[in-house]
Amino acid sequence: MDSQILVKAAESFGTPIYVYDLPFIHHRLSILKEMFKDFDFRLAYAVKANFNKDILSVLEKKNIMVDVVSFGEYKQVRSVGFTPDRIIVNGNCKKREELQQYVNDGVFSINLDSYEELLRLEKILSKPTRVSIRVNPDVDAKTHRHIATGLKENKFGVDFDTATKMIERIKSNKMLDLIGLHCHIGSQITEVEPYLEAVVSIKYFAKSMDLELSVLNLGGGWGIDYGNGKVLDLEEYKKKIFPLLKEFGSTIVLELGRWIVAPSAYLVAKVEYIKRTSSKIFIMLDTGMTHLIRPALYGAKHRIIPLYDVKNRKKIKADVVGPICESADTFRKSYTMAEPKEGEFVAICDVGAYGYAMASDYNLIPKPKEIIWDGEKLSISS
Ligand code: LLP
Repeated sequence: MDSQILVKAAESFGTPIYVYDLPFIHHRLSILKEMFKDFDFRLAYAVKANFNKDILSVLEKKNIMVDVVSFGEYKQVRSVGFTPDRIIVNGNCKKREELQQYVNDGVFSINLDSYEELLRLEKILSKPTRVSIRVNPDVDAKTHRHIATGLKENKFGVDFDTATKMIERIKSNKMLDLIGLHCHIGSQITEVEPYLEAVVSIKYFAKSMDLELSVLNLGGGWGIDYGNGKVLDLEEYKKKIFPLLKEFGSTIVLELGRWIVAPSAYLVAKVEYIKRTSSKIFIMLDTGMTHLIRPALYGAKHRIIPLYDVKNRKKIKADVVGPICESADTFRKSYTMAEPKEGEFVAICDVGAYGYAMASDYNLIPKPKEIIWDGEKLSISS
């Protein structure tokens, strides 16, 4: 996205702001469509990554499905027009009343996370219901431990023995229709191998159970390049994973979140102070960890680009920090950038996923506004 657009957004709406580039999201959707053209493929966008209504509306119009993990997300997608048959319900702790609603509405699939959840669902079944089982294939996704979900020590999904028991139970219940298996092994995955391991183990399991899956849901997790050059290689993915997917002959569902939206957004902030101590320089922004918690929570390193003329500016090494009363409120440590002046703008990159969605009110500093760039004009998101 042209940095002049980001400057214009900052000048027009003030800072801090999230700026979303909708044409980028369209571009990602077209890459996926082309990539999976030989499959019966459905994208079920992971709403948790970004629940902004303008973004959801773009996806709604494109006939995309959605993956929700809470009743709040469910209501959000319904409010922008998603019909229940385009909604997949995930989450490891579904409440009774919520299950009841999903059953009544007839969602595309309730993805069961545990045997206990199956028992709970059985008790409130009022009509035929489609379900899938989230299996945990005990695969190391080689990502940050906080966002790995496919190891047996993680709370998500069930092992294959439990899945076997669940399948037997589901088969004996006429109201339940087992449409598929689901697995999500983690997020920001930049290697194909963990996916391969997961698909292979699901394939063996399905074969051993003589299961005809109408849906194979591989969750999300595709990693993007946050500036260190590490990214999931889609050509390798095609080469190694596609032949296996063909063997399934099922509808392939991916619940991508980050890959669709992360690079579409910038957190634009103003430099408030440049503080010099005897040992350090701190660039203090008017945004902090309450607006973007990924650096504090996962040690994530987002690129920060200057939105000022860097010509004839000396380079400095500084910690880029926010206004929150926590030392973890640091976006980058010893970051080299052209020395800014007070009042100038910078943009923190790749914040479209798990950015605003994880923002909080801590320190009672208001959340940023969200600004939409539709390719022609900027507007405040509704
Ligand atoms: N499906 C399920 C069941 C999930 O739990 C998730 C993410 C996704 C799909 C989407 O994964 P994605 O394609 O976005 O990687 N807050 C962390 C990421 C947490 C991901 C949680 N589950 C972060 O900022 O890195």
